[in-house]
Amino acid sequence: MESPEDRAAEAFRKLFRSNPDVVVQAPGRVNLIGGHTDYNEGFVLPMAIDRRTAIAARPRSDSIVLLSSGGFPDTAFDLKSFARETGWAEYAKGVAWAMGPESLSGWEGVVTSSIPLGASLSSSAALELATALVFTTLSEREWDPVLAARTAHQAEVGWVGVNSGIMDQLISACGHAGHVTLLDCRDMTQTSLSMPDDVRVVVLDTGTRRELTTSDYNERRRECEEAARGFGIGSLRDLSMGDLDNPPSEMREVVLNRARHIVEENQRTLDAAQAVADRDSERLGRLIAQSHVSLRDRFSVSSNALDAMVEAAMASPGCLGARMTGAGFAGCAIALVEQDNVASFVRETESRYRVTSHGEPTIFPCAPADGASVRTRR
Ligand code: GLA
Repeated sequence: MESPEDRAAEAFRKLFRSNPDVVVQAPGRVNLIGGHTDYNEGFVLPMAIDRRTAIAARPRSDSIVLLSSGGFPDTAFDLKSFARETGWAEYAKGVAWAMGPESLSGWEGVVTSSIPLGASLSSSAALELATALVFTTLSEREWDPVLAARTAHQAEVGWVGVNSGIMDQLISACGHAGHVTLLDCRDMTQTSLSMPDDVRVVVLDTGTRRELTTSDYNERRRECEEAARGFGIGSLRDLSMGDLDNPPSEMREVVLNRARHIVEENQRTLDAAQAVADRDSERLGRLIAQSHVSLRDRFSVSSNALDAMVEAAMASPGCLGARMTGAGFAGCAIALVEQDNVASFVRETESRYRVTSHGEPTIFPCAPADGASVRTRR
């Protein structure tokens, strides 16, 4: 399969009849464990994956940003004055807005991607980071991955309107090939851990997509804030297992369940990082499976399709653990699978899931990849 960079460069040459000045890429991600903990100042264990978004671009002499893409209508905006609309250009506009549009100059380019869209693999964070990298490179600025992640995150929250945590942007900017990252979302400390080579992470796309994810996601965040307020603390990061035994009497059961998930998930994530370091893939798999149960029963962000996919995966050869990944509600789950069983795992999970008729499955192994980078520059 041709890489997204090659496809972007080729499409650019066709459209603009010249070579691009720059080709950049930014990857999607999966999160092994640490579901909905990032916006509670907790721990997550994501990895950037070998599915990515590429942009081939050249500068313009005016303030227009013109974006073309295979699947979507071309779109353009003027850095001197642009408004909030809907559509895929909002991610690029949001980045320009967060970087300070008056300091930027225009460019035109082609966007391609190998990340399934809207599938909880962070196609939007990848587009944000790739856009930020084009702006940065064409204006000859220094690329600081953590700063870029913060800027892209600001775009997501302040412009697009999803009150997300920073995990997706951070890992798309800072991933390391062959490694997962334990990220402390309170102080942004990153610990890179090499993945054991006897297992593969397999992406399990349920073929389902959901429009209302944003409002449900923002509601979970509000419930977590309500829980923290109820316990009289700034964030659920500071809640202990013991505190959960003595909740404030007026706390709603649903809110207490959200808190319980976050406290236990933080501990599971730390344990999972230790399991990676110890090369204990079976333990890692068990923690991943427990995470799914808690996200399903206590945090209520799974769906029938995601549950069916996880069940299908858990019953297939070589599966050490499976869970939904990303925000939830639809999209993808992941499984940790013994290297030697990957082919039969994929076949059997596909046929088990298919009989549930929730959607057409797409199942593929992925590998931990590097974060956003410039691929060619002239
Ligand atoms: C989405 C958000 C992340 C994170 C996950 C859930 O991917 O963008 O910040 O909260 O959901 O873990």
